[in-house]
Amino acid sequence: MTIWTPDLTPFEGPLYLKLVKAIEQAIADGALPPQTRLPTHRALADRLGVTVGTITRAYTEAERRGLLAARVGHGTWVRAAADPANEWVIRNEDNQRIELWQNLPVQLDRAAIIRPMLTELADGDLNGLLGYDKEAGRAPQRQLFVDWLAEQGIRGSEERLLFSHGAQHGIMLALLATGCVGETIFCEGLSYPGMLGNARQLKNQVMGLAMDEEGLIPAALEAACRQRRAKLLYLTPTLQNPTTATMSLARREEIVAIARRHDLLIVEDDVNGLLPEVSLPPLVNLAPERVIYLGSLAKIACGGLRVGFVLAPPALRNGFAQAMRLSSWMVSPLLIELACKLVSQHQIMPLIEQQRRVLARRGELLRHLLPGARWQPGSMHAWLPLPEPWRSQEFAEAANALDVGVASGEHFAAGQFAAPQGVRLSLSQPATDARVAEGLERLAGLLRAAPPTNPLL
Ligand SMILES: Cc1ncc(COP(=O)(O)O)c(C=O)c1O
Repeated sequence: MTIWTPDLTPFEGPLYLKLVKAIEQAIADGALPPQTRLPTHRALADRLGVTVGTITRAYTEAERRGLLAARVGHGTWVRAAADPANEWVIRNEDNQRIELWQNLPVQLDRAAIIRPMLTELADGDLNGLLGYDKEAGRAPQRQLFVDWLAEQGIRGSEERLLFSHGAQHGIMLALLATGCVGETIFCEGLSYPGMLGNARQLKNQVMGLAMDEEGLIPAALEAACRQRRAKLLYLTPTLQNPTTATMSLARREEIVAIARRHDLLIVEDDVNGLLPEVSLPPLVNLAPERVIYLGSLAKIACGGLRVGFVLAPPALRNGFAQAMRLSSWMVSPLLIELACKLVSQHQIMPLIEQQRRVLARRGELLRHLLPGARWQPGSMHAWLPLPEPWRSQEFAEAANALDVGVASGEHFAAGQFAAPQGVRLSLSQPATDARVAEGLERLAGLLRAAPPTNPLL
């Protein structure tokens, strides 16, 4: 529970309204991020030296204004932001709170692997790595990655590869390199919020398309192409975020055929592509002339390294180089070299295998505790479809009141897409299996309890 104690002195009016204004201000400043639990009425009354009635009146008014939500027996907390992208912040666990909120990789001892590599770098041509360099990375570094990707079944070439600051940056580069500003983007109806935020920032319109258990439905894409001209299609064919859907080879071929027919560029976000033990050919293998492939070390090695890789069609090479120069000049040669060591010393696949083993145990817990959830081996997240009458945001807020962070399906809704009611559960974020089990048990309890009769929304 937060120890937030407001300073009421800058505000005017009756005491309870001063407190409402302080709450409003703290939410706007980010001092009270969404889902933060507020002190109990009594605790805050004691801290401010006012009556409990004043706090109750203030909280009620703040609730009426849509700032706070409350549930009898569960306390009061800050409502979700109107714009879900604003809520996309790293949240930490504490003893009581369990975060199944964000797809952070399983906590493994990466330092033991990286430490000797840093020593090697320090003893090598460090001055060379500390200077400015080419925007796409050095040719031998690119070749090393291309060879490694080929071993994983992903076809590219040195000229088509450039490094990015992770896949998030790769998305922004793709939008800039293709001149996708103020345009229409097709994507899965539930899509990665980082892409949705980037698209919005560049004044693009996203059109979320219907999905099934294999992801984007080809007929929906065909219909959208006939209805409207889009600059590009963004999609995640493997372990889709948030639904975990993975496209079969036949589905991949159908999507590529439609893109060819309508001359549509595809941004293939493959951040999760190497997580399953058995992987399918990426779209870039099927249509290298129109697929921009985005990969990253974030989910498979170290998110904090911020090293990703892009395979771009030759026609877009200059566009990518320019987008890179204008956004950050280049990725640090030092970090790329460290990433190359992870590859050349064969450290990435063992890390993935370790993560798979942990996730397999957690997937098993999920199967027992929440049998309705969808999960696939290797996936860091699961998707929990909600039974009626639950709505996504309401369930996320009720889970929050039980100190379990989950991501409401609303976060992922693309454009006007009518998102199915569900929440994403990250199985990878908690430090231990026991905490995952505890979090899932609390959610299972919530589903078993009487459904909400007094909806919060
Ligand atoms: C589908 C998808 N794309 C991109 C990213 C961002 O990856 P990175 O950390 O490499 O920027 C994420 C992170 O969760 C993701 O789920």
